[in-house]
Amino acid sequence: MLRVRRLTALARTRAQFHTGPPNPNWTYGDGSAQWLDSKFPRKSFDFSRMSSSDTYKILTSAIVPRPIALISSLATDGVPNLAPFSYFSMIGNIPPLISVSFSLSQKRSKHTRENIAATKEFTVNIVSEPFAEAANCTAAEAPAEVDEWILSGLTMTPSTLVKPACVLESAVSLECELYFLKDLSPPNSELLTTTLVLGLIKKAHVHESVLDAEGAAVDPAKLRPIARLGGTTYARVLEGFDLERTSWKKARPAYEQLARARALGPDSKRFSSES
Ligand SMILES: Cc1cc2nc3c(=O)[nH]c(=O)nc-3n(C[C@H](O)[C@H](O)[C@H](O)COP(=O)(O)O)c2cc1C
Repeated sequence: MLRVRRLTALARTRAQFHTGPPNPNWTYGDGSAQWLDSKFPRKSFDFSRMSSSDTYKILTSAIVPRPIALISSLATDGVPNLAPFSYFSMIGNIPPLISVSFSLSQKRSKHTRENIAATKEFTVNIVSEPFAEAANCTAAEAPAEVDEWILSGLTMTPSTLVKPACVLESAVSLECELYFLKDLSPPNSELLTTTLVLGLIKKAHVHESVLDAEGAAVDPAKLRPIARLGGTTYARVLEGFDLERTSWKKARPAYEQLARARALGPDSKRFSSES
């Protein structure tokens, strides 16, 4: 019964995924009235005076939503490792690159970082809602000999160009080779706190069921990716809207009129009275 209700909810979401834009009557120069009122003061955070945990709290809750890479890697002794990372993004398509970064503590290294540095190979598996709990549990800070595949119950499927397996439950898996690795420290410090890794995507495997009608792109309504927000909160991607890409040719007359009006008008200042 519960399963039927869940499937119905999924089908309804697919049909309703594409909704209208937030401000259908918006035109060039309109800006937005959101939070302009002085009853919404800004609080400033000076990171040079803040603890690392307070910095983490404000930034990881503000820079959202972050996609989640479930990374599969192998230790040099062959022990498989699986863990989620949300300091993760696409860097470019020529060449196809992703970035992921590891927060290092003095107490415990990140096995994924060690494995990638040593073996130069990994797979990135996009996390979808149906296996959110399984992916989440792989974040357990377990000893190196622990195989998080067993803990999560997720299924290995062989990669073709790299040794670490892909996650079969993941609708999108990327076979990656290490492209760049850089250990980073805070300014004026020798302490290694972060490692930035860029991965060259050699091959992608996409479940056909999440592809769009042309089979060339992933349909977000079908992928149902989850994202990380602050703390232990995740987000579902349930709704999308389209905005036409602004063409300079079309926007230019409006821009010239707005620029002229601003230069002539009494209100030629660029900043609000608050700033
Ligand atoms: C959703 C989620 C996202 C995470 N993102 C990161 C991240 O971007 N960087 C990081 O260092 N740790 C991140 N973590 C914590 C690691 O997953 C955790 O430290 C894990 O034990 C690392 O596993 P490993 O030592 O086997 O590599 C995240 C945890 C969760 C639950």
